[in-house]
Amino acid sequence: MKIKNALSLRGTLTVPGDKSISHRSVMLGAIAEGDTVVHGFLYSADCLATIDCFRRMGVKIEELRGEAGENVLIVHGRGRRGLKAPDESLDAMNSGTTVRLLSGILAGQSFSSYIKGDASLSKRPMKRIIEPLREMGARIDSENDDNCLPLEIQGRQLHGITYTSKVASAQVKSCILLAGLYADGPTTVYEPFLSRNHTELMLNTFGGNIKLKKDAKTGLPGAIVYPGVILTGQNITVPGDISSAAYFIAAGLLVPHSEITLRNVGINQTRDGILRVCSAMGGNIRTLNVRMEGREPVADLLIRTSELHGTNIGGALIPTLIDELPVIAVMAACAEGDTEISDAGELRVKESDRLAAIIEGLRNMGVEVDETETGMIIHGNGGKNHRRDARGCLKGAVINPKGDHRMAMAFTVAGLISSGTTTVRGTDCVKISYPDFYRDLESLGYNL
Ligand code: S3P
Repeated sequence: MKIKNALSLRGTLTVPGDKSISHRSVMLGAIAEGDTVVHGFLYSADCLATIDCFRRMGVKIEELRGEAGENVLIVHGRGRRGLKAPDESLDAMNSGTTVRLLSGILAGQSFSSYIKGDASLSKRPMKRIIEPLREMGARIDSENDDNCLPLEIQGRQLHGITYTSKVASAQVKSCILLAGLYADGPTTVYEPFLSRNHTELMLNTFGGNIKLKKDAKTGLPGAIVYPGVILTGQNITVPGDISSAAYFIAAGLLVPHSEITLRNVGINQTRDGILRVCSAMGGNIRTLNVRMEGREPVADLLIRTSELHGTNIGGALIPTLIDELPVIAVMAACAEGDTEISDAGELRVKESDRLAAIIEGLRNMGVEVDETETGMIIHGNGGKNHRRDARGCLKGAVINPKGDHRMAMAFTVAGLISSGTTTVRGTDCVKISYPDFYRDLESLGYNL
């Protein structure tokens, strides 16, 4: 895809449904009693992988596709003990959320299953879920003995545990909490910093018994889940995905003469780090019409072109913007002064090594970046010559996103303000989380 710089972006968008919440609505819907109707479901490749896995376990799922906000999914729940042994391997494809959360559910079943994934997912670390699930009594083996996919899981009666995760990961936390539904006693998970809490919120909505819990000794955040509760099908409305909104937040701030309204964006405090960072960088974003969609807060965001300056991003902020770091790095590259990103080692084990990919891409575009152990220092090209107009901050380049959807979209945004043409190779991967990304970009007045 060839991207030329944009003169301005103007208009209103409803970004597609939240990926994390969409996955969870299928999973909890499947093990609940009765039907779950999900409005605004995200029909992306990752969420379709989750649907496919549950269909293979006998769950009837109906897809009614309309415009983003009108997409509806109906999950005919089979109850906590109602899943059937799949005939074949379950394929999580590119989706870390599918494999890690599903493993928690499979560990407590009365049947065995195999889960595989594509080449990228098969390189990602699974020890982080294998260890706690084994501690709960699960038989779970990596076929290659390297703690990666494929996994064989022999379901059995699990035991409640108290587990402190080394990483702030909602996928790890959710895996253990879902396994906890099949345990003989309460299960507690603590993590170094609070990660996204959609599983906790949605489990409560379905009638689960789950509470926030701080470790009395260490003060670490966590949650405790009590088993033996019947989950009941629900009506769920999925907020727009702030991780998808992020590309238009960045584009709206960077492209001159822009004004973009993003409707119905989820602003859960465990996900809204990008808004805090934009504000620290001097970004003009107004949060309007704040309301609740079930237990999830949503708002409309009004974004206007702004002059950005550097900031520091690390610690507890990182899990709240983990997927937005590639596009935040693009904003930092066009800001005045330095931005230091630290404590972001988790980026090495996402769909690609995102630390390496961000650094390589930005350097190709003429940005000075120092690599650090857990992040980077970006020496922004903004200011002086680029006041009021970020165009030209970046040089056009050829970018290989290595099949990683978030890298493809972040560097498309970079292309919008680069001098000359930027070529982003293999943009088909945007279907993982945002199949209509380029159509939505065009709807803001940009000609591809
Ligand atoms: C997700 C959690 C995050 C995020 C991923 C989705 C989830 O991963 O990067 O895209 O739905 O729980 P980690 O929790 O492993 O950081």
